[in-house]
Amino acid sequence: MKDIENLKSEFESEISNASSQEALQNIKSKYLGKNGLITKLLKGIKDIPPQERKDYGRKVNELKAFIETHLREKQEYLKEKEIENKLKKEWIDLTVPVKPVFGSLHPITQTLERILGIFRGMGFSIEEGPEIELEDYNFDKLNIPQDHPARDMQDTFYVNKEGYLLRTHTSPVQIRTMLSKSPPIQMVAPGKVYRRDDDPTHSPMFHQVEGLVVNEYANFRHMKFVIEEFLREFFQTQLPVRFRTSYFPFTEPSAEVDIGCVICGAKGCRVCKDTGWLEVMGCGMVHPNVLESCGVDTEVYQGFAFGMGVERLAMLLYGIDNIKLFYENDIRFLRQF
Ligand code: FA5
Ligand code: MG
Repeated sequence: MKDIENLKSEFESEISNASSQEALQNIKSKYLGKNGLITKLLKGIKDIPPQERKDYGRKVNELKAFIETHLREKQEYLKEKEIENKLKKEWIDLTVPVKPVFGSLHPITQTLERILGIFRGMGFSIEEGPEIELEDYNFDKLNIPQDHPARDMQDTFYVNKEGYLLRTHTSPVQIRTMLSKSPPIQMVAPGKVYRRDDDPTHSPMFHQVEGLVVNEYANFRHMKFVIEEFLREFFQTQLPVRFRTSYFPFTEPSAEVDIGCVICGAKGCRVCKDTGWLEVMGCGMVHPNVLESCGVDTEVYQGFAFGMGVERLAMLLYGIDNIKLFYENDIRFLRQF
């Protein structure tokens, strides 16, 4: 019995001094190895007088368990320490400023950041959704009927998996947001969208920023204010803005927003096709069918939404007349931003 006590304190001092996995391994074999001290004690149980044997056996087994637990704990502790040391040694200061070499943000990225910055300032959150989207979210839940022309293979890129497509607009992020959050909602959603379009103002891949506000009192007047404020901030000047009646299956009433042509000062030119006006986005009050398809109680909540083309806004801001310039990566073009 005295031996067991001594052994225990011997082990305790050895383990507290052990500072490497190697040292632990040595301790382990000293006590628990084939010829280890504990192993020997266990083998010796049979030689103990019968009346003491039970008590003695229990003590030895307790000590064995004690040793095993402490070995395991110390091993984990040392492993963590090792990782910690490694992290400390390999630490890189990511805040050290790099020497500027060359390059700048792409004009579309700059435009996106400009747009999002304005909405962030108005208290909008930023949401995102996938570019490969469910047909259900891109069309059905947005109240777009089965036979709508936008669903045609002529307009939409479908993927090989049934029920999926490359999203044709950022409006499915409205659906995702309403399905995952409850009102009040006040968000914008930037991202790439895809359509079978290709001409000087239309590209097969382009960017949109969606906006959605859902609460108990949202109305058309609020929407007009938000959009007018946004445009004033974006162009840094008070341009003429008009809301023109339009149609989208997912909003009612719907409107398209035109601004006075920034290229010709609304006098009439090639870009505005001599009308003096340029369309910059679609908008409207969220259709009750859309709210209901997302489980939003239309007795309590209403909402407005808008969707803008980022390339369109960038072209107007910088005075660019061909959308292709954004994607040709011509260094002479990119250097100007
Ligand atoms: C939509 O995509 C609607 N989802 C917008 C919306 C959202 C309306 C919420 C109401 C409520 P539209 O197809 O008109 O609408 O596209 C919106 C903008 O994207 C257009 O004003 C235009 O600026 C831009 N756009 C459309 N097609 C292209 C294209 N092929 N290349 C570049 N920009 C495009
Ligand atoms: Mg349109």
